[in-house]
Amino acid sequence: MSVSVGGDAILMEGVRKRFGDDKQALDGLDLTVARGTVHGLLGPNGAGKTTTVRVLATLLRHDEGLVRVAGHDVRRAAAEVRRRIGLLGQHAALDEELSGRQNLEMFGRLYHLGGRGAAARADALLERFGLVDTGRRPVRQYSGGMRRRLDLAASLITEPEVLFLDEPTTGLDPRGRGEVWESVRSLVGGGTTVLLTTQYLEEADQLADRISVVDSGRVVADGTPDELKARVGRDRIDVVVRDGARLDEALKALPFAPAGADVDRDRRRISAPVEDRMASLALTVRALEEAGIEAEDIALRRPTLDEVFLHLTGGRSADERTEVAA
Ligand SMILES: Nc1ncnc2c1ncn2[C@@H]1O[C@H](COP(=O)(O)OP(=O)(O)OP(=O)(O)O)[C@@H](O)[C@H]1O
Ligand SMILES: [Mg+2]
Repeated sequence: MSVSVGGDAILMEGVRKRFGDDKQALDGLDLTVARGTVHGLLGPNGAGKTTTVRVLATLLRHDEGLVRVAGHDVRRAAAEVRRRIGLLGQHAALDEELSGRQNLEMFGRLYHLGGRGAAARADALLERFGLVDTGRRPVRQYSGGMRRRLDLAASLITEPEVLFLDEPTTGLDPRGRGEVWESVRSLVGGGTTVLLTTQYLEEADQLADRISVVDSGRVVADGTPDELKARVGRDRIDVVVRDGARLDEALKALPFAPAGADVDRDRRRISAPVEDRMASLALTVRALEEAGIEAEDIALRRPTLDEVFLHLTGGRSADERTEVAA
């Protein structure tokens, strides 16, 4: 990725935001997003993702810390920032009775594109998001995936430099999700910087150049998807035994600490982290042989992002943890 003039698209340093007396939604959050990249903000419910987006989009004032978007301070130059950003909120803002095209035209007029300008922009966006055929139907007839693509088109009316997508695929089926992913990928080709929040690890893995894992209002880890997986480390070995009744026996026989192993009884599978791939493989095969337990499959693999995520956040949502503490 080339380094462009004007610095990073997003810069946040030590950002704090408190709601009421005791809800510290952002607790010293740091975030840097390079221009022209997709950055994933990954975290459980209540982690502070939407709060982060609202601060960046000048919809909410933070208490402390530095926040710059597209080269401008969100506090001192909010209007400059607004002119350069687009936002796709967690909940859509489309008019159900209007057609897709009319919705886009309406947004265009709101942004002072003028009647003709708004119409031209609406047509270009419908084309770009594969909505030409459905563009004249009222939005209430749209599928979830089509709605979300129309949302995305609406957030691009102003040709923003930086686009915020807050959980763009929540509630979509796999097909709708795939359609939105395609649209997001095509944006980045055009040079737009995207900050995407998600609870779906797969989504961050698919779309993001870099990921920041947020929990309780701060970044607990960041890096490329591969770096994050490598950080938690260790490769894993999966052993599927043929006879499910012998799973516990296999667990005892295997050369890794039972405490670190995950057992999936439905799949007859034991999964455990390993230090040395080849040695562990050899030891596993031998141990099963000696115990007379037949394996259906033995595989070495990298950890999934789900495992990374659970490891980094302790496996619970921030809100759940607050409840436990309270
Ligand atoms: N206006 C508000 N008033 C009081 N508390 C709030 C407000 N907005 C957010 N919070 C709290 O701040 C914390 C962070 O909320 P936020 O909406 O940023 O989380 P999130 O990561 O977007 O979660 P989700 O995945 O559920 O959308 C939560 O504990 C939430 O309850
Ligand atoms: Mg949210």
